[in-house]
Amino acid sequence: MKLAERMQRIGNETAFDVLVRARALEAKGRSVVHLEIGEPDFPTPPHIVEAAKQALDEGWTHYGPTQGLPELRSVIAQHVSQTRRIDVGPEHVCVVPGGKPILFFPMLALLEPGDEVIYPNPGFPIYESMIQFLGARPVPIPLIEERSFSFDLNVLRDQLSDRTRMLILNSPQNPTGGVIPAEDIEEIASLVAERDLIVLSDEIYSRIYYTAESPVSIASLPGMKEKTIILDGFSKTYAMTGWRIGYGVMPEWLVDAVNKLMVNSNSCTASFTQRAAISALTGPQDEVEDMVQEFRRRRDAFCAALNQVPGFRCAIPGGAFYAFANVKLTGVPSHELADLLLNEAGVACLDGGGFGKYGEGYLRFSYANSIENLMEAANRIQAISRTWANG
Ligand SMILES: Cc1ncc(COP(=O)(O)O)c(C=O)c1O
Repeated sequence: MKLAERMQRIGNETAFDVLVRARALEAKGRSVVHLEIGEPDFPTPPHIVEAAKQALDEGWTHYGPTQGLPELRSVIAQHVSQTRRIDVGPEHVCVVPGGKPILFFPMLALLEPGDEVIYPNPGFPIYESMIQFLGARPVPIPLIEERSFSFDLNVLRDQLSDRTRMLILNSPQNPTGGVIPAEDIEEIASLVAERDLIVLSDEIYSRIYYTAESPVSIASLPGMKEKTIILDGFSKTYAMTGWRIGYGVMPEWLVDAVNKLMVNSNSCTASFTQRAAISALTGPQDEVEDMVQEFRRRRDAFCAALNQVPGFRCAIPGGAFYAFANVKLTGVPSHELADLLLNEAGVACLDGGGFGKYGEGYLRFSYANSIENLMEAANRIQAISRTWANG
């Protein structure tokens, strides 16, 4: 029995591979600082955990509506209406197990073989994986380090065609930590306003930013709500990666298709998890704010330390919890450097090339780790930099 041909086109997330390799080294007694995986190192806030326990006790242990509990969809609609300054209702909200299904389902529902999809490169690897899996045509747009890792808008303008069916945006961004400036979002909206395409706006890091103004959602711009799918969720904001809950906010005509894909795959998102999510959005937000403050402190300290390493140059990211260091001046290809740091220095990070060809020459470090561990990692990298600094 052989696998279906389409399985040759599906990709992977290198973070999970590097984690396995790092754990194998640890099993042999080696010490590794983990800066590879993209999840907050904080516990889920206790009142959210309590809400889940209470929900279990109350019997929220059965199937629920495919689209999500009405109460949660209302709370999400209010939250998104407030934060994006748009008017959406529970009928626009689909609750799903994590943010990822809001890539999987809408792409599955909308893309035909040969359709073109524009997406950021370097970018979250699942975008390219899904585009190729579905037989659509990937159209990567380079992100420009000097522009806070925003798109090269000229390339975007040139690459838009009559076959472009979808444009994927991600701000704050993985892997660069870039936040797309408001004026770029306006320009992008004006470029796509008259086109027959849909924007998939991945806003999973929407609450984790260090800029004075919150990141602008393209859905907030006039006429754009009708052609935007917002992806957001609880994984990053509330340190709930393992709970598997996220949501999409989309035009109503698409909701039924997403529900059908949901009923064919998951039936519904876990009911007690949804009760906990209500508590996350309606309860105190101090822990989210404290977490972001702590990420800011780590960002400042870690990026400053990376900038001391010979051959490293690290722009100060505006959001998420990733430092994306340009390592071209080391003269070592970034995939080799990532291996060297893991095997010789005990620092697990990711090769930028794993996020697409324009990520080559960069390394991604997740600073969702204690300041002590981050400083230890920086010291280890500094110590091993003799390898390349002395040629
Ligand atoms: C840009 C981006 N989008 C979506 C996701 C998926 O989030 P979830 O774990 O909620 O599925 C991630 C997770 O790393 C991400 O970095």
